[in-house]
Amino acid sequence: MKDVTPQTALQAQILDAYAFRHAAKVFDPGRKIPEDEFNTILETGRLSPTSFGLEPWQMLVVQSPEKRALLEPMSWGANGIVSGTEGQLKTASHFVIFLSHTSATMAADSAYLPKFLREVKGFPEENITGLLGAYAQFQAEHFDLTDDRKITDWARHQSYIALGNMMTTAALMGIDSCPIEGFEMDALSAVLEAEFDVDPTLLKPAVMAAFGYRASPPRHPQSRRSMDEAVRWV
Ligand SMILES: Cc1cc2nc3c(=O)[nH]c(=O)nc-3n(C[C@H](O)[C@H](O)[C@H](O)COP(=O)(O)O)c2cc1C
Repeated sequence: MKDVTPQTALQAQILDAYAFRHAAKVFDPGRKIPEDEFNTILETGRLSPTSFGLEPWQMLVVQSPEKRALLEPMSWGANGIVSGTEGQLKTASHFVIFLSHTSATMAADSAYLPKFLREVKGFPEENITGLLGAYAQFQAEHFDLTDDRKITDWARHQSYIALGNMMTTAALMGIDSCPIEGFEMDALSAVLEAEFDVDPTLLKPAVMAAFGYRASPPRHPQSRRSMDEAVRWV
């Protein structure tokens, strides 16, 4: 397989954005993302697809330095310890925690789902019954989503789609980002409950993302497997 050579201006723009994006370890603390641009990033997260359209996540945008400081002890992937920098939590223009729904709302028999399908999706009652029947079968028989951890993990997966779209949107606007899984799940959940009014029976941390402007060039050139290794055609 040959290198991918853009054939149109749009293809070049997209590939340039992917070449620009890297996992930024530290941002220029003096530069803030303009509100309209960050709202565009959030909007592409909000509009992202989710399994069965159930949007099983919420994005928590953490801007107060005091609140961010509370996240530092258990967020080894964002506090600069690993990268030997000031880290993303202290320096990002915007910092997002994706919270995933749990079985309290996402189990097929939860009271939340018919209400969501009625009020957000505008589905008629007969469609709600049919969809929830299919969803119950999907959970019980097809995907083994049979306990709270499995259902919460499935919900977490959905938030990664929004995360990916948001990082691409940012890169297209020349904004840097970093996806962050480097945190202690239980300790973070506890601090979110105690200090951010997040009920852990309803919402659990899924993944984080920092956005801003790089403080220095990437440390490493982008490295990936070849297209032949990454993709198999049959
Ligand atoms: C789900 C996920 C979690 C990640 N967690 C962290 C993290 O906690 N801290 C960090 O600095 N980078 C984190 N990264 C960045 C990866 O290390 C990085 O994307 C990978 O090494 C490829 O490098 P590049 O993104 O610069 O091309 C994460 C990436 C993903 C996709």
